[in-house]
Amino acid sequence: REANLAIVGATGMVGQTIKRVLEERDFPVNKILFLASKRSVGKKVMFKGKEHVVQELNEGSFKDIDIALFSAGGAISKKYALIAKENGTVVVDNSSAWRMDEDVPLVVPEVNPEDAFSHKGIISNPNCSTIQAVLPLKVLDDLFKVKRVVYSTYQAVSGSGVAGVDDLKAGIQGKEPKNYPHPIAFNCLPHIDVFMDDGYTKEERKMIDETKKILKSSKMGVTATTVRVPVENGHSLSVNVELEKPYNLQSVLQSLNDKEGIVVLDDIKNNVYPMAINAHNTDDVYVGRLRRDFSLENGLNLWVVADNIRKGAATNTVQIAELLLKED
Ligand code: A2P
Repeated sequence: REANLAIVGATGMVGQTIKRVLEERDFPVNKILFLASKRSVGKKVMFKGKEHVVQELNEGSFKDIDIALFSAGGAISKKYALIAKENGTVVVDNSSAWRMDEDVPLVVPEVNPEDAFSHKGIISNPNCSTIQAVLPLKVLDDLFKVKRVVYSTYQAVSGSGVAGVDDLKAGIQGKEPKNYPHPIAFNCLPHIDVFMDDGYTKEERKMIDETKKILKSSKMGVTATTVRVPVENGHSLSVNVELEKPYNLQSVLQSLNDKEGIVVLDDIKNNVYPMAINAHNTDDVYVGRLRRDFSLENGLNLWVVADNIRKGAATNTVQIAELLLKED
């Protein structure tokens, strides 16, 4: 069946990619609205060969809309997701505003699709780094039970939107940063989102809390250090895992490769491993550098790479909307 859709934040980096992914996957659309701020009203958008005009988001925007895909930041989501929900529109939200709400499912379609169907009007799309991490972790958890995870991330500037990419490009030319507190060109910043009282950043907190929620494992030990690196697009993660049960490396490799949404790239003799430049513009999660962590019983190290704007945001959002079409 065809749906009436709205993209909230249609002019942003993720919003524009959502549009492209809907076209690529030939999502069945009856009507589609492109919503943004007053600044963008009147901008032209092409969708499936037809011209559309960007409209200003307002309280009346959701009339007749079945599904609204939000990517306009937390403050807009906090307010307008409730208005959309009141209207009977189902919201798929990219911000962190609703992710840890008990009534809001947090969904990665290859991991916990069943959760999407218990929504009460809002479904959250997880944090970009969390999405790519939980694909392999789900496989490992089902087979061997994950006891503890240590994340170290190498995150691209596209995760900060256009402002992040601008800081990298201008920084290479020797200009001062406008978005980040320090230069990102030729540098690494162990600082993504804001710092909290416990010394962690909010990005680190999101990875910790969201992993446990998606894998339904409140007892799992999870810790994270999230770092912004001078890569334009594509997040890379070092994932160190302690499993409850013994495993065989070759069969883990096979199980990961069999998982929908994962591509194993692991051939060190030929220098084959996942890299951000190859993940760019694709929808898969790439896993490689699989090796035993000899410092632990049942320890395993992985390197996990994905396009943070696509699988980490736009594609995952559209996949959730596809699940909704299967509802009722
Ligand atoms: P606009 O382009 O009109 O500012 P990004 O994260 O890539 O910067 O994108 C943010 C998205 O959220 C853009 O589409 C932006 O629209 C939209 N947005 C920001 N503020 C508002 C607002 N007050 N009302 C509606 N959309 C907004």
